[in-house]
Amino acid sequence: MAATDLERFSNAEPEPRSLSLGGHVGFDSLPDQLVSKSVTQGFSFNILCVGETGIGKSTLMNTLFNTTFETEEASHHEECVRLQPQTYDLQESNVHLKLTIVDAVGFGDQINKDESYRPIVDYIDAQFENYLQEELKIRRSLFDYHDTRVHVCLYFITPTGHSLKSLDLVTMKKLDSKVNIIPIIAKADTISKSELHKFKIKIMGELVSNGVQIYQFPTDDEAVAEINAVMNAHLPFAVVGSTEEVKVGNKLVRARQYPWGVVQVENENHCDFVKLREMLIRVNMEDLREQTHSRHYELYRRCKLEEMGFQDSDGDSQPFSLQETYEAKRKEFLSELQRKEEEMRQMFVNKVKETELELKEKERELHEKFEHLKRVHQEEKRKVEEKRRELEEETSAFNRRKAAVEALQSQALHATSQQPLRKDKDKKKASGWSSIYSVTIP
Ligand code: GTP
Ligand code: MG
Repeated sequence: MAATDLERFSNAEPEPRSLSLGGHVGFDSLPDQLVSKSVTQGFSFNILCVGETGIGKSTLMNTLFNTTFETEEASHHEECVRLQPQTYDLQESNVHLKLTIVDAVGFGDQINKDESYRPIVDYIDAQFENYLQEELKIRRSLFDYHDTRVHVCLYFITPTGHSLKSLDLVTMKKLDSKVNIIPIIAKADTISKSELHKFKIKIMGELVSNGVQIYQFPTDDEAVAEINAVMNAHLPFAVVGSTEEVKVGNKLVRARQYPWGVVQVENENHCDFVKLREMLIRVNMEDLREQTHSRHYELYRRCKLEEMGFQDSDGDSQPFSLQETYEAKRKEFLSELQRKEEEMRQMFVNKVKETELELKEKERELHEKFEHLKRVHQEEKRKVEEKRRELEEETSAFNRRKAAVEALQSQALHATSQQPLRKDKDKKKASGWSSIYSVTIP
């Protein structure tokens, strides 16, 4: 083989050569093909609304999409935050949009709000997991897969005019690596113009000082760089929602009517609703979808696969194939299983030994107890025996004494019965009454 050929083969990726075409070929229609394919396929867009109950989430969604989504008022007595997704099929011109609005029902209503962010994080992760599982399938159908990954989180800030609540900061911090967050000041008609300006500055300051990364409208695409840069400076958008139509001049506009005047939703002097709609739907919807896939989902996927033991290269930075990873993981799993088995066996043996020792100790204790009791019993028996002997001796002594006493008594009785007779004889002798006498026994 010639030296030049060798060089060509050893060069992994030769530079592509530029050629000029002799006439029209047709691949300039590729973008049109993409558009047509996308239009046929339709799009999906998923919005997560996080904000306290009654802050105006549903009204804003209705206002944004100029329709009425059937939603129910949430109660203030939810035990924990519950994520409620609703999917709608929308069509504008010939473009189909599968819109999912996810409501964080009961957010901010619990007394203990420590774990309020968790169901939201879990929901977002679950959608990533579903997508990952679909990707890992052998027969995957990502083409018609209903992508439920959350593309944007509209975080509704209460228009207090003061500062963000800890709950807001904690929740946004927990979500910022998982979803594109667009913070919005809800019910902005309840806050004055000067207060609103200060409030916006304060919110942005707090987000920066707490390291919360909110979504920045991209400025790398020339076509939208300018408008996006301007809009980034307007964040957080102060919005007003209403589905009510009010006649202003000779036009019907969506507005909120008050005794002192009318707040027009689509009037940029009244609120930032139009800015939000433009940025969210018209200009940056695709970027939000793209960021969700390339940044947030990618991060989830990487962490998850690493957690499962997959890696792109081994310790020496050598690329690792899926097969090798699988084999390595299998070996690791088997040795881990063996180790666990051995550990359990050892544990079992130790346990048996321990129980055996315990039993022996118990037996010894019982034996000692028995011996002790036996000794006590013998001692008692000896004492009882002694007592019995003493008692017998006492009884026989008593009996002897009793017999002696009885003998003495009978002697005494005998003696007393002889004495009166002698006296009477003496008396008779003395009185001459020898034939008459009497005996008195007491
Ligand atoms: P839940 O789903 O029950 O949590 O409530 P929500 O956040 O969806 O609020 P919803 O849109 O139901 O609005 C609650 C109340 O706030 C309604 O009376 C709305 O008319 C009112 N509201 C909505 N948006 C605005 C707004 O921009 N300004 C004012 N002042 N009131 C609003
Ligand atoms: Mg609602």
